[in-house]
Amino acid sequence: MSGETYYLTTPIYYVNATPHLGHAYTTILADTMARFQRLRLGPERVYFLTGTDEHGDKVAQAAAKAGESPQAYADRISGIFQETWKRLGLTPNQFIRTTSDHHKRTVQRFLQQIYDSGDIYFGEYGGHYCFGCERFYTEKELQDGKCPDHQTAPTFIKEENYFFRMGKYQSWLIDHIHGHPDFIRPDRYKNEVLSFLKDPLEDLCISRPRARLEWGIPIPFDEQFVTYVWFDALINYISALGWPEGEEFRRFWPAAQHLIAKDILKPHAIYWPIMLKAAGIEPYGHLNVHGYWKIEEAKMSKSLGKVVRPLDLAGAYGRDAFRYFLLREMTFGLDASFSEEALVARLNADLANDLGNLYSRVLKLIERYYNGALSDRPDGGGLSGATGAAVAEIGAAMKRFAFSEALGAIWDLVSATNKYLVTNEPWKQDPGDARTKTVLFTAAETLRKMAVLLMPFLPDTAERMLQGLGIDAMPTSIGLEEALASEVVGSPRERRVREVRALFPRIETTSPKPSRGTKEVPAFPEAPPDQITIEEFRRLDLRVGEVVEAEAVPGSKKLVRLRVRLKDEERTVVAGLREQYPPETWPGKQVILVANLKPTTLMGIQSQGMVLAAEDDAGRIVLLKPEQPIPPGSKIR
Ligand code: MSP
Repeated sequence: MSGETYYLTTPIYYVNATPHLGHAYTTILADTMARFQRLRLGPERVYFLTGTDEHGDKVAQAAAKAGESPQAYADRISGIFQETWKRLGLTPNQFIRTTSDHHKRTVQRFLQQIYDSGDIYFGEYGGHYCFGCERFYTEKELQDGKCPDHQTAPTFIKEENYFFRMGKYQSWLIDHIHGHPDFIRPDRYKNEVLSFLKDPLEDLCISRPRARLEWGIPIPFDEQFVTYVWFDALINYISALGWPEGEEFRRFWPAAQHLIAKDILKPHAIYWPIMLKAAGIEPYGHLNVHGYWKIEEAKMSKSLGKVVRPLDLAGAYGRDAFRYFLLREMTFGLDASFSEEALVARLNADLANDLGNLYSRVLKLIERYYNGALSDRPDGGGLSGATGAAVAEIGAAMKRFAFSEALGAIWDLVSATNKYLVTNEPWKQDPGDARTKTVLFTAAETLRKMAVLLMPFLPDTAERMLQGLGIDAMPTSIGLEEALASEVVGSPRERRVREVRALFPRIETTSPKPSRGTKEVPAFPEAPPDQITIEEFRRLDLRVGEVVEAEAVPGSKKLVRLRVRLKDEERTVVAGLREQYPPETWPGKQVILVANLKPTTLMGIQSQGMVLAAEDDAGRIVLLKPEQPIPPGSKIR
């Protein structure tokens, strides 16, 4: 496997809209795969590309609407994409922009090359043009005379343009698809492409007259025209690697895999391989196609007015919980429905309950029984079969982009570990018994392996789990099996655990939203606007908490970050009370916490509740506390 590399791309997103859940989904999938391959092959063998598609009618129109020049507009929206991926913790090797000089030069070079070899000609064409899709539709493709994607009537346009001889390569493409059965996967999309290729392929109009559209890359052999935006955009996949001479092109192109949703199957499955063929470049290895996230049965899109913002969700529930939901809920290739209720249900059941409780349980027992340190204990082997099975299944699933199955395999291991503990009941045994030590050591060792397996999927959680297990160095450039087996990630002979913090807070769902399609039922009996009913008051989950530690939030004068203990969980709470109560005054204090406040992120820290204080008219603030000490977690009624 010495020379194996991995190159994975996402579509480059149009800058006519800011990122929504659909864009985040593809990019999170790609990030997960890139992290998985980095773990498997070493980071220097993996290249993950994403970026923005910035030319064309759509962008020019959006810029005009925003009252900005196309370039200023593209800079701004592209910046929002980059910032969003950063905040979601995504790790592309490069973020390409089609307005970069390098990309423009590459597109012109590519065009010149296939023009010189005779695959481009000048001609006249009349056709049904959809401005939303930026392409011509044939009569047959239209549905009731409308664009099937946008449901709008196309405009008939007749003009002179440059055309790319796609028809010439049709039989080559059909043979290539038959000869490489997983060139396009899953199969349903391959079949769709083959069925489309049964009819003769029309040549592709690859220019737009400047008189109609200025915002594009000039055609190198005729300055009256700019390049069709799809022809420009697809070339990003090779311009990013420095085609034709680039070292990265040489290393990574032979391992190219594209990841897209089904909306852009045709340009990727038909135009792009033919463009590559015409330019004498090997086709990419695989085109991996996923389905749509839908909201109430419609594809989410700006034009349909249904949009979910990724940062809102990651902010409210944590970016790993958001990531987990997306990866787990959608079967690769099929559509899935998005709802916040389903996200919360998965978060509570899979993350807070199955994984979170397992982790806290094991670490707390090691802390309680052995003061946090267990050494010279062999792994009892009781879970080695389950771990081996999980590793094998994850490897097989990831080859097929079956992210949900890979997570399913990890959760089988979580269940097996929970079962192992329930069978052995270490909490009922004598801590001094060799068997108790072995059981807890085995469980902790399995948690360590689980954390390594989770690294691509839930990177923040995996890091916290490893830190809790006393391991600071994250594995990077070692094979997955080695990472699991060896001392590279923590010595297998010693487990020294640290403070136990809950991995995921449970989200209380006391007031289910009314089911869709029914009339909104008021959640509470009516009350005058400035009064609340007792039922409304009861929705507040007010608890006594005990502060276990406090530290100043860097970069803020007012904020202090608290760890607050409730009954058997700890919360991070960010309070704006540092000026009145500096960090050293907090530990040991009892406070009143609003425990079911929707989590929110302040200065990059997720706050899971709010501490109550009173303020007088002069603005003096004092903290509220129980009149006498009472066990943390006590409910305020
Ligand atoms: N700019 C072109 C792509 C050029 S690639 C050479 C484009 N951009 S886009 O902004 O419209 O992004 C389309 C992609 O966004 C989809 O292929 C998919 O990756 C993602 N998604 C957008 N909406 C989506 C859903 N509702 N569900 C899942 N993915 C979605 O097309």
